Amino acid sequence: MAQLQVQLNRLKLRNPILVASGTFGYAREMAAFVDFAKLGGIVPKTVTGEPRIGNPPPRTVEATSGMLNSIGLDNDGIDTFIEKHIPYLSNLDTALIANIAGRTVEDFANLAGKLAEFDGIAALELNISCPNVSGGVDFGTNPDSARDVVKAVRDACPFPVIAKLTPNVTDITKVAEGAAKGGADAVSCVNTFQGMAIDWKKRKPILGNILGGLSGPAIKPLALRCVYQVAKAVDIPIIGVGGIANLNDVLEFLVAGASAIQIGTANFYDPGVSARLVDELDAALDAEGCATVNDLIGSVHS
Ligand code: FUM
Repeated sequence: MAQLQVQLNRLKLRNPILVASGTFGYAREMAAFVDFAKLGGIVPKTVTGEPRIGNPPPRTVEATSGMLNSIGLDNDGIDTFIEKHIPYLSNLDTALIANIAGRTVEDFANLAGKLAEFDGIAALELNISCPNVSGGVDFGTNPDSARDVVKAVRDACPFPVIAKLTPNVTDITKVAEGAAKGGADAVSCVNTFQGMAIDWKKRKPILGNILGGLSGPAIKPLALRCVYQVAKAVDIPIIGVGGIANLNDVLEFLVAGASAIQIGTANFYDPGVSARLVDELDAALDAEGCATVNDLIGSVHS
């Protein structure tokens, strides 16, 4: 058996297969389908300071090889997250990476401060890249803002900090550099690509919020490109996310420079995929003669 453990600065994972925020609920919903102990970690839905009702429906629509969503960060807020979800999530036999979002640097720091006392949390992922709420991407489109928010969260809690980046920028490497300057332990590359769907017969947009974020296999080559570019630009580890649905996808992201990956949209149509991929990765490493997954990470060359 190959060594699957990966180290992302201060965050140690038993293997590089995670599940992405917004695609796995608060894990309870997936308990019938997934042996959580197999996973490298779980990233539950983004939590904000206050409860949010999210965007008007319809909030999802299928696209060719993918899905558009405009959920709008619907969640019950940090107090309910702490009361109802942390006790369950932090007792699972896998790493819990809480995902937080705020409108200001102070919001992010306050959320981190509220979570700081929970030692069942392995890391915080900062959602600075949601395309579906006003201001959701503000911290993810400006390198200095990304730096400042990462630094504020680092100062407010003892956890490793991961900045989840948006691909909806001209040059994602600049924002990755900002996050690295702020002290990010890692960056997640990438959140969804802004898109839309139209019912041409009605001459109307389909999503209630008009625009949404595209995810799923349709975006895989785009996300892979982002990982490749960011890996060349920064020294911090990368978590690849974007359309990963099978073993080849996992291997491509690792070789491109990701130290771990997140399964997102595939959880909706193949809920057991994440745990299955851990076994498949193990077998693939053996077949490749790799003693450790680190032999593959960033091994691409032209
Ligand atoms: O609309 C949403 O809740 C999506 C969040 C995200 O893409 O980060």
